[in-house]
Amino acid sequence: MRRPLIAGNWKMNGRLDDGRRLAEELAQRVHRASETGDPPLPDCELLICPPFTLLETVHRTLAGSGVFLGGQDCHGEPSGAHTGDISAAMLADIGCSHVIVGHSERRQNHGEDDALVRAKAAAAIAEDLVPIVCVGETEAERDEGRALAVVTGQVAGSLPESFDPARLVLAYEPVWAIGTGRTATPADAAEVHGAIRGALAERYGEEAAAALRILYGGSVKPDNAAELLRAGDVDGALVGGASLKSEDFWRIAQAAG
Ligand code: 13P
Repeated sequence: MRRPLIAGNWKMNGRLDDGRRLAEELAQRVHRASETGDPPLPDCELLICPPFTLLETVHRTLAGSGVFLGGQDCHGEPSGAHTGDISAAMLADIGCSHVIVGHSERRQNHGEDDALVRAKAAAAIAEDLVPIVCVGETEAERDEGRALAVVTGQVAGSLPESFDPARLVLAYEPVWAIGTGRTATPADAAEVHGAIRGALAERYGEEAAAALRILYGGSVKPDNAAELLRAGDVDGALVGGASLKSEDFWRIAQAAG
């Protein structure tokens, strides 16, 4: 069974006070739900990926809540002369269990290609972190009818040769849906997720493909989360803007079950 994962990517947002407050609000919601059952505790894993500067604060604030902590990127090497970068070991050291790699904002703004994303995913696995490997087509690629080819190509290039399917997550985030208020329809999401799972089955076998979670990301909000999360082969959500409001993030988590 693939347990849904609802992940919040805070991107480059928040100072210490904001991060602490947001994490506190989330922790309180979790505690209240576990104690009173009203509303029920969502039947999914919850993950927050704050900017590096907030990791320690959020880690302390979330302690005991069961909410996982993740980085938004890591370097492909374990250490060395890489000014401005953070290694997977550093993330693990500060309490992270997950790390996003290959987000389209890094592919576009930092020129990251599949080979680099693969190295980052491997570096994360080597430190026992769960990499969340992101893929997604641009609007032009979709308009040209190449969405499935682009996405399955990214999956082929960005995943390491071997991994534990329970310890790696894929995220399909169509670039044109990120931060735009436009989402893939549930049918479009199901089509791409199905194609990804088919490609995984060919390369890694049916069992591994069936075990791996594929998240949808791109303008997921409380009012569209339920239908997207019900779409075939969608195993959770990677949430940007809506994860910056605890109420919205919580409602999305409730929609997961
Ligand atoms: P939005 O939810 O703001 O569209 O961002 C999605 C995303 O990029 C999450 O990684």
